Amino acid sequence: MGMKKIGVYTSGGDAPGMNAAIRAVVRAAQSKNIEVIGVLQGYVGMIENKFTKLTARDMANIIQRGGTILKTGRSQEFLRPEFRAKAVANLKLNEIDGLVCIGGDGSFRGAQALWEEHQVPIVGISGTIDNDVYGTDDTIGFDTAVNTSLAAIDKIRDTADSHDRIFIVEVMGRDSGYIACQVGVAGGAEEILTPDNLIPIDKIVEKLKESRAKGKTSSIIITAEGQKPGRAYDLAEAIRKRSGLDAKVSILGHMQRGGTPSAHDRILASRLGAHATLALIEGKKNIMIGTQGQSLIEVSLDLVTKNKKPGDTSLIQLARLLSV
Ligand code: F6P
Repeated sequence: MGMKKIGVYTSGGDAPGMNAAIRAVVRAAQSKNIEVIGVLQGYVGMIENKFTKLTARDMANIIQRGGTILKTGRSQEFLRPEFRAKAVANLKLNEIDGLVCIGGDGSFRGAQALWEEHQVPIVGISGTIDNDVYGTDDTIGFDTAVNTSLAAIDKIRDTADSHDRIFIVEVMGRDSGYIACQVGVAGGAEEILTPDNLIPIDKIVEKLKESRAKGKTSSIIITAEGQKPGRAYDLAEAIRKRSGLDAKVSILGHMQRGGTPSAHDRILASRLGAHATLALIEGKKNIMIGTQGQSLIEVSLDLVTKNKKPGDTSLIQLARLLSV
């Protein structure tokens, strides 16, 4: 029997463009006369039975809003099978036949478990500012976060230049250096440090000294936060100790997750949301819709959750080449 009612949820860190994706899901479903239920706070709401009906009209005026109208969460309980069983009981209670999951790799691991243990049909859409999801070139929110960070870095550059200072700017990306690489090149950084490119402190000091000797008066170093936010402070301290040069720190933090989604992210979210919904209604399951170049692709959630997206070190080399 075909689907009558599907659920949609956002999970993990919010990302600009998630609302545009929710809108696309609801309106694409309406085109097939399928009802949509929003699950609030991701897996938290699934466990606690927080569901709300979403109509095409409810989606008015959200395409341009950052955050997620459905709220989101990082559920520790959902890591345990007994709570996943509770979530599935609530899906049955609400007569939900399938789900669209908007989130990152952690959210997809949850989706994969729901499929393996309870055969809940789920189609995923990658939404995370980190762009660290295996199987897709791009994720909803990444472009906006890069532009938000870049706007902040441009401002920091003004004051760095006025005071002849070195700045260590820390951008988000727990296990991923994608934001760091993009803003590093676009912001003219001297060095980019990422989880895949942890340059020894001596090398950084050497580079900074060389830059000064060449007549550079200010420098920007970008570091991804990595597992431990605040590593920029350790770096600045080490630079001060070993070179005597003063290094200021700016941690951009959660401002990178908010704000109006860029045109790119709204279009990506609309394409992914519509495609995922129609695929789910057609009977596809346990896949993520991702991008490869300009095309949309379907990748099994099994592959997505079992692999790590490799970092792109070419931009690190480019920043180095151009910061002479
Ligand atoms: O996954 C997105 C992200 O913003 C990471 O870059 C960051 O490490 C993490 O979420 C922070 O999560 P939280 O807001 O839960 O502290």
